[in-house]
Amino acid sequence: MRPLISITFILFSHVLRSLALRPNEAQLELSPAAAFPSRPQPQPRCKSFPGDSSWPSPADWNSLNQTLGDVLLNRLPPAAVCYPSSPNFNQEACNFLLNNATRTTFYFDDPITVQAQWPQGLTCPLSRNIGANATCTQGGFPVYVVNATTPRHVQAAVNFARNKNIRLIIKNTGHDSSGRNIGAGSLSVWTHYLKGFEFYPDYKQPGPGGGYRGPAAWVGAGLQVWEAFEQAVRYNITLPAASCLTVGSYGGWIGGGGHSPLSSKYGLGVDQVLELKVVTADGRYLTANPGENGDLFFALRGGGPIITSAIVKAHPPINLTIASFNFNLGTSPSTPIPSPNPTIVNSTAFWAGFNAVFAFGITTVDAGGYLWTNALPSGPGFSMQVRVQLPGFSPSEALTFLQPLISQLNVLGIPVGNLTQPTTELYSAQTASRGGGSSPGGYFASRLFPRKAYTDPSLFAAAMSAARATVEAGYTFHGLNLSPTLQAAGNPRQKPGVNPVWRDAVMHADVFGFGNINLGTASDQEVAAAVERLHALMEPLKQATPGGGAYVNEADPVEPDWQRSFYGGNYGRLREIKERRDPWGVFWAPTTPGSEGWRVEGTGGVLWRQNGRLCRT
Ligand SMILES: Cc1cc2nc3c(=O)[nH]c(=O)nc-3n(C[C@H](O)[C@H](O)[C@H](O)COP(=O)(O)OP(=O)(O)OC[C@H]3O[C@@H](n4cnc5c(N)ncnc54)[C@H](O)[C@@H]3O)c2cc1C
Ligand SMILES: *[C@@H]1O[C@H](CO)[C@@H](O)[C@H](O)[C@H]1NC(C)=O
Ligand SMILES: *[C@@H]1O[C@H](CO)[C@@H](O)[C@H](O)[C@H]1NC(C)=O
Ligand SMILES: *[C@@H]1O[C@H](CO)[C@@H](O)[C@H](O)[C@H]1NC(C)=O
Ligand SMILES: *[C@@H]1O[C@H](CO)[C@@H](O)[C@H](O)[C@H]1NC(C)=O
Ligand SMILES: *[C@@H]1O[C@H](CO)[C@@H](O)[C@H](O)[C@H]1NC(C)=O
Ligand SMILES: *[C@@H]1O[C@H](CO)[C@@H](O)[C@H](O)[C@H]1NC(C)=O
Ligand SMILES: *[C@@H]1O[C@H](CO)[C@@H](O)[C@H](O)[C@H]1NC(C)=O
Ligand SMILES: *[C@@H]1O[C@H](CO)[C@@H](O)[C@H](O)[C@H]1NC(C)=O
Repeated sequence: MRPLISITFILFSHVLRSLALRPNEAQLELSPAAAFPSRPQPQPRCKSFPGDSSWPSPADWNSLNQTLGDVLLNRLPPAAVCYPSSPNFNQEACNFLLNNATRTTFYFDDPITVQAQWPQGLTCPLSRNIGANATCTQGGFPVYVVNATTPRHVQAAVNFARNKNIRLIIKNTGHDSSGRNIGAGSLSVWTHYLKGFEFYPDYKQPGPGGGYRGPAAWVGAGLQVWEAFEQAVRYNITLPAASCLTVGSYGGWIGGGGHSPLSSKYGLGVDQVLELKVVTADGRYLTANPGENGDLFFALRGGGPIITSAIVKAHPPINLTIASFNFNLGTSPSTPIPSPNPTIVNSTAFWAGFNAVFAFGITTVDAGGYLWTNALPSGPGFSMQVRVQLPGFSPSEALTFLQPLISQLNVLGIPVGNLTQPTTELYSAQTASRGGGSSPGGYFASRLFPRKAYTDPSLFAAAMSAARATVEAGYTFHGLNLSPTLQAAGNPRQKPGVNPVWRDAVMHADVFGFGNINLGTASDQEVAAAVERLHALMEPLKQATPGGGAYVNEADPVEPDWQRSFYGGNYGRLREIKERRDPWGVFWAPTTPGSEGWRVEGTGGVLWRQNGRLCRT
C-alpha cells in the first residue's frame, strides 16, 4: 500500500506544479536590478570557465540553488558509473547502461546526457572495456542544470548566466545531434519538466486584424510527442508532431520548423503556434504573438530565446493510413511473385523504380500526404523501402491512390503486387516508436528539394543520379516528401522566421551512414576525411536543387554556408533580432543566428565538439 500512496502523491504534486505554469497566472517577476544589469564593459572575450578566478564560488551556486528552491543539479556524465576511477563507479548501474539504457527513455530523461554523444568530445565514453586507469571528465556536458518547472526557474538561470558570464545551454529531450543541447562549463536549463497542458475549445488569437479563431491548446515546452498525443486523444483533437514519439514537440521541434506526417495538410510545427511565452536574455518573461513582441514571435519560430509554453492550434481528429512495400536488387529473384517485397536482378529496372517512387512524391504531397523512403545497400545489392502515409484516407482509398505507381513499377519489371492491407489508425493513437533511446545518434547531411528540382526534367534526372550515387557509395538515402506551403500553414498574415525554402520544398532528404566511421573510436583525421567524402557526395545534390537549403534540426553539424542553407532569406533579420534582444550573447548554440560571432576553442579543430571554452571570434 505505502508505495502506491507515495506514487499518487508524487503524481498529484506534479499536477500542482504543472498548474503553476498556467499562462494567465501572475508572474513572479525578479527584481529589476537582477533583470536588467548594465552591459559589462568591456565584455570578456570568453565565457567564464571552471577553474577561472571569475567562476562563481560554491557560495554563489548555493545562493542560486536557494533562489531556485533547490532544483539546481550537478551531475557527472552517466557513463561515470563504468569508470573504476570515478566516485560514481557502480557495476550494476554500468550494466544497465550497457545492456538496457537504449531500450528505455534513459537518455531523454537524464538531466545532462543527449542522444548523440560525440559532440560531447568523448571524454567519458560508455564502453565494455574501460581500463582501471581510464578517466571520465565532464567534457562538453554542463556543470550545473536547472531542473525547471516554472518560468521563474528559467528567469533565475538566465539572469545568473548573464550576470556571471556563464555559458548557458538548453536541453529538452536531447534529440538534437549537432551539439546545440550541450556545452562545456555551462549552466543548462532543462525544460523537460515544463509539462503543462490545457485545452481551449474556442480560442481567439490576440493581435491586429482577425487572427486564428478556433480550438487550441496551451502546452508546456517540455511535452513530448507521446504526451501531446495522450492529451489529443483525451480531448478528441489532433496536435501535429514529429514521427518519433520521444521528441519534444514544443522545444526544438517547433523552434527549428518541425515536420510531421500532417505537414502537407497543416504545415510545419511552427505553423501551429499562435502565441509563445518566453524568457528573454534580459531575464524578462514575455508574451509573444502577432500583436505583442512580434519580432520574437517571428524569431522564436525559427531560432532564439527560451520558450516556456505555447498556444497551438488543435485540429479535428484524423486517421493516418500507411501503405508499405519494398523492392530489392539482388542476385536471384524472390518467390512468390508478385509480393509486397520482391527481389529482382535487373539493375536498370531497380534504379528506374527508384526514380518512379521519388517522382510519386509530388503526387503524394499534392494529395496532402507524406512519402517516407529509404534507399540503402542490402546484401550484394540494394533495397528500396517505401511507406506512403495518407492522412484522412481509408485503406481502400489508399490502395486506389497507389495503383498508378504500382502499375508503373510492374511495367518496369518490378513485380510489387498483392500489397498487404494498409494500416489505419487515429493519428494521435500511434504508439509504435514510444520509448527507446535507439542508436547513439549518427552523423548525417540533409537537403531540402524545391519543387523545381522535381518538375524540371533535367534537374530531376541530375538529383536522382546524385541520390543514387550516395546509395552506391554505401550511404542510406532517406527521403521524406512533404509540402508545408504557406497555404497549408494557414497563417497568411504571419510568416514565421523558419527557413522560407520550406514553403516551396517537396522533399527533405537525409544522407546517413557517414562512410561507416565509428565516431566513438575514429581519429580526428579519419573523421575529417569522412566529412570531406560526405560533402563531396552532397555537392551534386546541391547543384541539382538550386534554391534549396537544409532543415536545421536534421542536418550536417558542419554544413557549409549554414546561414543560407538553414535560414535562407530570413537570416539577416533573425541575426538583427538576436543581437538587439541579446547584446550579452547569453543564448549561444552552434548554427543558430549570430553564432558565428563565437567559437568553442580547444577541440582539436573538430567544429561540432562542445568540450571547450566558448570565446568570441
Ligand atoms: C529519432 C529522431 C527522430 C526525429 N524525428 C523528427 C521528425 O519526425 N520531424 C522533425 O521535424 N524532426 C525530427 N527529429 C529532429 C528533432 O526535431 C530535433 O532533434 C529537435 O531539435 C528536437 O528537439 P527537442 O527539444 O526534443 O531536443 P533537444 O535536443 O533537447 O533540443 C534541441 C535544441 O532545441 C532548442 N530548444 C529546445 N527546447 C527549447 C526551448 N524550450 N526554448 C528554446 N529553445 C529550445 C535548444 O537549442 C536545444 O538544444 C528527430 C530526431 C531524432 C533523433
Ligand atoms: C540544491 O539544493 C538541494 C537541496 O538542499 C540539494 O539536494 C542539491 O544538491 C543542491 N544542488 C547543488 C548543485 O548543490
Ligand atoms: C536488462 O534487461 C533484462 C530484461 O530485458 C533484465 O533481465 C536484466 O536484468 C537487465 N539488466 C540490467 C543490468 O538492468
Ligand atoms: C595504471 O597506472 C599505474 C600507475 O601509474 C600503472 O602502474 C599501471 O600499469 C596502469 N594500468 C594500466 C592498465 O594502464
Ligand atoms: C526534476 O524535477 C521533476 C519535477 O519536479 C522531478 O520529478 C524529477 O525527479 C527531477 N529530476 C531530478 C534529476 O532531480
Ligand atoms: C470528435 O470530433 C469530431 C469532429 O471534430 C466529431 O465528429 C466527433 O463526434 C467527436 N467525437 C467525440 C467522441 O466527441
Ligand atoms: C478511423 O478509422 C476507423 C476504422 O476504419 C474508423 O472507425 C474511424 O471512424 C476513423 N476515424 C476518423 C477520425 O476518421
Ligand atoms: C531491365 O529493365 C529495363 C527497364 O524496365 C528493361 O528495359 C530491360 O529490358 C530489362 N532487361 C532485362 C534483361 O530484362
Ligand atoms: C497474396 O499473398 C498471400 C499471402 O502471401 C497469398 O496467400 C495470396 O495467395 C496472394 N494473393 C495473390 C492474388 O497473389
